[in-house]
Amino acid sequence: MLIAKTIVEVRTVRWADSNVTWGLVPTMGALHEGHLSLVRRARAENDKVGVSIFVNPTQFNNPDDLARYPRMPERDCDLLRAEGVDLVWAPDPPEIYPPGYQTYVTVEEVTRPLEGASRPGHFRGVATVVAKFFNVFQPTRAYFGQKDAQQVAVIRQMARDLAFNLEIVTCPIVREADGLAMSSRNVRLSDSERKSAVVLYGALFGASEAWKHGERSANKLREMMTRFIEAEPLARIDYVSIADPGTLLEIEGRAEQALLSLAVFIGEVRLIDNMVVGN
Ligand code: PAJ
Repeated sequence: MLIAKTIVEVRTVRWADSNVTWGLVPTMGALHEGHLSLVRRARAENDKVGVSIFVNPTQFNNPDDLARYPRMPERDCDLLRAEGVDLVWAPDPPEIYPPGYQTYVTVEEVTRPLEGASRPGHFRGVATVVAKFFNVFQPTRAYFGQKDAQQVAVIRQMARDLAFNLEIVTCPIVREADGLAMSSRNVRLSDSERKSAVVLYGALFGASEAWKHGERSANKLREMMTRFIEAEPLARIDYVSIADPGTLLEIEGRAEQALLSLAVFIGEVRLIDNMVVGN
């Protein structure tokens, strides 16, 4: 497994043989089974696999969150070596944002609700760094998790609008045994917070059960999820959403299919999760 820092190294490895297909898994490190599920899918579908590890400063709207973001590059490389990854790209920030950097990618409508409303500038940072990774790496396929449902929608929109020549593959959410969606931020939860954190999945599960039993009122589903979270003392709601899976706009009235999503603070840690119901 090669560990590259510079763009020149990545391009050299990528184009050593232009007949080879490459899967790229962009990450911010502190890897867990969610990330590794993307790596395994990429491994199965491509000749070679590259993983980027870069804690992207431009997508953090909160400097404290950036400072506290877990970093464990050596452990990450060990995990990736065991998965048979060919290339790890772990650039230093100036390689991505050299002095005088001034180009950003702004995706419009689909970035406005949900995470975009709660985290101003977040998707501008994500779209910019992912566009740069796509340009440098030129993968055949790139892999993203449904855990960040809006991120997938934003990247698909960007790839279509800017005609990136690659396939975007979305992979299902990997959960802990109790249902908590795996996240690099979970390591910041205390023992009692970790126990409370299961309310995100509990709220989604409850709403999806109600859906199965015929509940289609977006307001009722939203209220049900809200009440469930509010019953947990350590949890504070950022948003609870029943949205159109295409536009991500809130559904008022009856839902035919829906993206159920939520962002909740457990203590100081902000967690997100989602589930799609309907076809
Ligand atoms: P990061 O949070 O490290 O996530 C990297 C990829 O792993 C994302 O596509 C994310 O959706 C996926 N992922 C995380 N937890 C998952 C889980 N429990 N199940 C399935 N997939 C999961 O997302 C980012 O990094 C960054 O925004 C990035 C795209 C790398 C741009 O900086």
